[in-house]
Amino acid sequence: MAVLPLSRMGAEILKKRALEVTDFADPALPALVHDMVETMDAAHGVGLAAPQVGVSQRVVLFYVPAQRNGGAEVPLTLMINPVIEPTGPDQAEDWEACLSVPGLTGRVPRWTAIRYTFQDIKGQTQVREAKDFHARVVQHECDHLDGVLYPMRMTDMASLAFGDVLQAEAKARGQVLELDEEGVLPE
Ligand code: NI
Repeated sequence: MAVLPLSRMGAEILKKRALEVTDFADPALPALVHDMVETMDAAHGVGLAAPQVGVSQRVVLFYVPAQRNGGAEVPLTLMINPVIEPTGPDQAEDWEACLSVPGLTGRVPRWTAIRYTFQDIKGQTQVREAKDFHARVVQHECDHLDGVLYPMRMTDMASLAFGDVLQAEAKARGQVLELDEEGVLPE
């Protein structure tokens, strides 16, 4: 296992459509997943897509901490060849950050309810439904497979900011704004 270097905004690999995984017997696949888990943990991220570690394949990891999902943790999930469809008409804006866009945060509109389908490490198809932060994380990570970073989804660039500046300004107002490695925690 190894902690892999993270690709940052501007890298060509983050602009490309990643390729479908077709060979689930390839030993490189579990090796990649192990390295991605280690890399995500080391960076304290809640999600990581293979292009962020220099591999242009449709492989994504994420988890949802209990405090961001009404007390219900979504355990670490590996998604291969994921596909998303919204299950309702609503979108909502909230703060996002990205390990490939370090230091910055911004408000991004996302579907609030989705169904997502993916293959697991054995190639078995799984189907899940998600709402709110869980749905947001899945949409953010899957965008990485299509060359999309969250600033490209923002409709009002005025909210794009350095997390530590927002934190300092909140402090000056007598408020506490908690940040994690990924950016601003939702209030
Ligand atoms: Ni990201």
